Amino acid sequence: MKIAVAGTGYVGLVTGVCLAEHGHDVTCVDVEKEKVEKMKKGISPIFEPELEDLMKKNRERLHFTIDYQKAYQTAEVIFIAVGTPEKSDGSANLCYVFKVVEEIAESIERDCVIVVKSTVPIGTNDKIEALIKANLKRRVKVAVVSNPEFLAQGSAVRDTLHASRIVIGAEENEAGNILKEVYKDFDAPILVTNRKSAEMIKYASNDFLALKVSYINEIANLCEIVGADIEDVAKGMGYDSRIGNKFLQAGIGYGGSCFPKDTKALHWLANFNDYELKTIKAAIETNENQKYKLIKKAHKYYEDFKGLTVAVLGLTFKPETDDLREAPSLVSIPLLLEDGCKIKAWDAVGIKNYQKIYPTQLEYCNTIEETLRGADFCLIFTEWTEIKNLPVEIFEKEMRHAVIIDGRNCYSLSEFEGHQVIYDSIGRKTIDYRKEEAEGSR
Ligand code: UDX
Repeated sequence: MKIAVAGTGYVGLVTGVCLAEHGHDVTCVDVEKEKVEKMKKGISPIFEPELEDLMKKNRERLHFTIDYQKAYQTAEVIFIAVGTPEKSDGSANLCYVFKVVEEIAESIERDCVIVVKSTVPIGTNDKIEALIKANLKRRVKVAVVSNPEFLAQGSAVRDTLHASRIVIGAEENEAGNILKEVYKDFDAPILVTNRKSAEMIKYASNDFLALKVSYINEIANLCEIVGADIEDVAKGMGYDSRIGNKFLQAGIGYGGSCFPKDTKALHWLANFNDYELKTIKAAIETNENQKYKLIKKAHKYYEDFKGLTVAVLGLTFKPETDDLREAPSLVSIPLLLEDGCKIKAWDAVGIKNYQKIYPTQLEYCNTIEETLRGADFCLIFTEWTEIKNLPVEIFEKEMRHAVIIDGRNCYSLSEFEGHQVIYDSIGRKTIDYRKEEAEGSR
């Protein structure tokens, strides 16, 4: 089928590439000329495993352009995958979506299905349909279908090609069937429903996962107080298939482009309709507090940070991505700088993006060893494999004071036993050699 995709962010580009992989002729549209030129050469503007390989493999069926008119003119199906960032009041900013909708309306010259992949508040698909119909320049038949995206960064290609589900929200069977045809070779169950339900499925899914993360983080905080171990607690909970063992990894809070934005947007939407989503409100608050956890822990060991050297391991909001949006590190780094710390930082792929925010304020290191050298304490924000695989002796060997504060529970406690370190993680007992020595000498 002839398909156009508006927007080449994580959702748009990955969708376009995966549709091409399944034999469709896809034109991806973006407003940034430089980005488009790069993509034409097979270079992905985002770090995403497998993406560039598939871009190169499908280059004959995959086109990139800034000429939206030409792309939309003859497309049978047009996907809208532009961003819906958060406004200052927490609601979703739909200006990019509506701009694309107007461009589509003025360009199309044949009957087509408009597919809304962007995460939009419930009821937006209805507005989009009305806007398109009001702005059409030619007598063509248009249907609007909601088709939310469930891909996670770092596994976006896999999540799309082998999706957990494909949700199609359509008001007319014909449009729903066209979308089923688009996805016929994808390995995923298809759920067809109405548009509002499809829009809600997206928010309800993301917000439930965010809630699950905040829940396990609160339980972890309580584990620390009462002396339980969150890793065992989560494992014990996960055996129950009603709970499931995924998204029970306690840490320093969720970040990224979806959970923070989508929790706030649904909460805002509920408020707007005179309803309060108390659980989601609590998840948001818990997450905000959790982001300060590492700094609070560090203060247990140093009252004043002035003049101290801090090793920061991991900057991105999660591993396998260079995305920094809402990364917990972005909450702590300014506080450390304010307190007069010298910060040395390492990340597998996120340094380039961090340098755009802090070009000179941090010392960026090429290796973890170099980062740890001479540090008074170490903060771990992201569970990169390189960090998880680090022999724990390195901390002892390189740091001036081996105080390790791990926001992602990268190591088992037993790995640190007997070492001259303080290892303080989330929801578990702290390994503190000073206490062990004191107990030994008693
Ligand atoms: C998420 C959803 O998973 C995806 O379905 C949706 O389409 C977009 O939003 P993403 O933001 O890429 O994807 O990352 P995800 O892997 O879900 O992690 C989100 C955040 O939660 C990360 O900061 C991660 O570190 C945190 N997290 C996740 C935890 O702290 N603990 C967990 O157990 C799982």
